[in-house]
Amino acid sequence: MDKDRSIIIGSDHAAYELKEKIKTYLIDKGYQVEDAGTKSNASVNYVDYGKKVAGAVSDGRFSKGILLCGTGLGMSMVANRFVNVRAALCSDIFSAKMSRVHNDANILVLGGRILGDMLAFALVQTWLDTEFEGGRHLERIQSIDN
Ligand code: RB5
Repeated sequence: MDKDRSIIIGSDHAAYELKEKIKTYLIDKGYQVEDAGTKSNASVNYVDYGKKVAGAVSDGRFSKGILLCGTGLGMSMVANRFVNVRAALCSDIFSAKMSRVHNDANILVLGGRILGDMLAFALVQTWLDTEFEGGRHLERIQSIDN
């Protein structure tokens, strides 16, 4: 598995359809995508899926993940409880970019009831294409877990 081209994705029912579209988008771009669920529109607890994705990033199985729920808020709350996880809820391109440049965000969180498909794809692409700047920002992110 090429870790740089692998990504784990998960959502609840509220963002199931957008999750499926993003999965297809990523596969078309050559990414290997691990789908942590959910697998249908049936109502589920977002926490279960947030834990799966955040756990896999926290313990290093994946270097990047994407989480979606209706607003993205619940998934952010869950994911940011995990050591080594820096989850960024983004709905604009500048934040998606800066969440990588300054925060080295390793999980992108999206709101399926907020975003249109094209904006969601652009957020994902920007986030994946942007590198962490390091330097003074490395010390800052390290101090989160210290
Ligand atoms: C599900 O109705 C909704 O609460 C969930 O998708 C999410 O938005 C929670 O933060």
